[in-house]
Amino acid sequence: MKASIGPLLVRLDPAERDPLQVQLYTSIRGAILDGVLTPGAKLPSSRELATDLGVSRTTAVLAFDRLAAEGYIEARAGSGTFVTLELPDERPRRMRADEGPSRHPALSARGQLLALSPPTVIKIEGPPRAFRIGTPALDVFPRRRWSRIITRLRRMQTEASLDYGPALGLPRLRDAIAAHVSRARGTSCSGDQVVVTAGAQQALDLISRLLLDPGDVAWLEEPGYPGARAALAAAGADIHPVPVDEHGVVVPAGVAAAARPRLAYVTPSHQFPLGVQMTLARRLSLLTLARELDTWIVEDDYDSEFRYGAQPVPCLHGIDADGRVIYVGSFSKTLFPALRIGYLIVPADLVDAVRAARRATDIHVPTLDQAVVAEFIEAGDYERHLRRMRQEYRGRRDALLAAAQRHCGGGLSVRPVATGLHAVADLCDGDAAAVSHEALARGVEVMPLSAYCQAPGDSAAGTSQAPPPHRGLVLGFGAVRPESIEDGMKSLAVALDRARRISAT
Ligand SMILES: Cc1ncc(COP(=O)(O)O)c(C=O)c1O
Repeated sequence: MKASIGPLLVRLDPAERDPLQVQLYTSIRGAILDGVLTPGAKLPSSRELATDLGVSRTTAVLAFDRLAAEGYIEARAGSGTFVTLELPDERPRRMRADEGPSRHPALSARGQLLALSPPTVIKIEGPPRAFRIGTPALDVFPRRRWSRIITRLRRMQTEASLDYGPALGLPRLRDAIAAHVSRARGTSCSGDQVVVTAGAQQALDLISRLLLDPGDVAWLEEPGYPGARAALAAAGADIHPVPVDEHGVVVPAGVAAAARPRLAYVTPSHQFPLGVQMTLARRLSLLTLARELDTWIVEDDYDSEFRYGAQPVPCLHGIDADGRVIYVGSFSKTLFPALRIGYLIVPADLVDAVRAARRATDIHVPTLDQAVVAEFIEAGDYERHLRRMRQEYRGRRDALLAAAQRHCGGGLSVRPVATGLHAVADLCDGDAAAVSHEALARGVEVMPLSAYCQAPGDSAAGTSQAPPPHRGLVLGFGAVRPESIEDGMKSLAVALDRARRISAT
């Protein structure tokens, strides 16, 4: 169906999703905005247009009515319908996708900081492969049980459950989280202190914006978690890297290097990415310093559930007498990352501020998802799943250590892994970034340790545990089946060899 209106050729297609009157409206409006139909141009009558196009008169009338209501055209008694004269000469013109850079205003200073956040991992498209980090064993997740809970809860949905939910999260889930953390992590808290967030990342973003002013000093472990770095940077923090040794973050080194920190971000149960557990003595010295300097501590307890023989040390939150430790947890490792559910445990006097901040962002995580997690925990599935996964991960860890020994023994030494879902390996020589590059070319994901450093050149200074970052590699094993671990390690051996040859030439 086509017709001409002056220089405009209108085409309507009944097969398109939009109704004919919308297609007609859109094409006349577009022609006016693009200057194809100029102010004052006469349009055919709705009857003529309908006849030319072979559509009902109602279709043309509805399109004209909408254009008139929006001020694009006007009917003049006795003379017909015209493009409105009052359209500004320099009227906005629609941009086509292929027209190159746009002419909008610049990003805010905060927006520019946000836009600079680098990706947190190098990933090859597709399902998890050797040695993806940050992803749990999705292949053995109890999807059937999960879907059954979803189906049941969907069926039970009431009118009220479709409305906005509480900004702090479903009370049922908050209580279940408080009970689990109090039982498993050596702290005590009530559901009232729990705030459900869209993953740990939103928790870090919220808390950084609530607690820091631009320019405030924040400590970040070095090497450290890029997600925390991004959240702190976006809040305008002046980030000071603080080295990590075999006991955890080196508190005196932080004191020597940085002005008063307003906030210290730490991963005491399983330092990211080195994997060390912060000793009790170090925890106490961090708390003492925080009291002296009046510093917030953000404790990210992202994957402490997975231990292979290591004695659990109670979380920092459990030994904090001041209410200055904010605890961050996540279901990304214990369930699956696409769920996007994490949580904060905050002192009672911060709850109202966090509620207001939550309302100003996404209000809350979808309530159905929250209810599914709550039911999974309440029914005992969560504990069962964790027990099973500990076994599974122990097997994958052993497979990684054995395969590394078998295939890369001469070039790579994997550090002991007592917790978590990834390992750190030291190259005997060569450069980890070059190995990572060669491995990627062979379909294997390994991250160079330097990717987690703010100052890769000197981050290992004064520490006995950290390898020179240019020699360190981070290998995830949680997401990788044992047979893929074996194949991945063979490819990594080839990548090691290739990187060594290139550096020798
Ligand atoms: C240190 C650390 N914290 C938190 C998380 C989890 O983040 P999220 O809950 O946003 O997926 C990860 C994931 O890899 C992590 O490594």
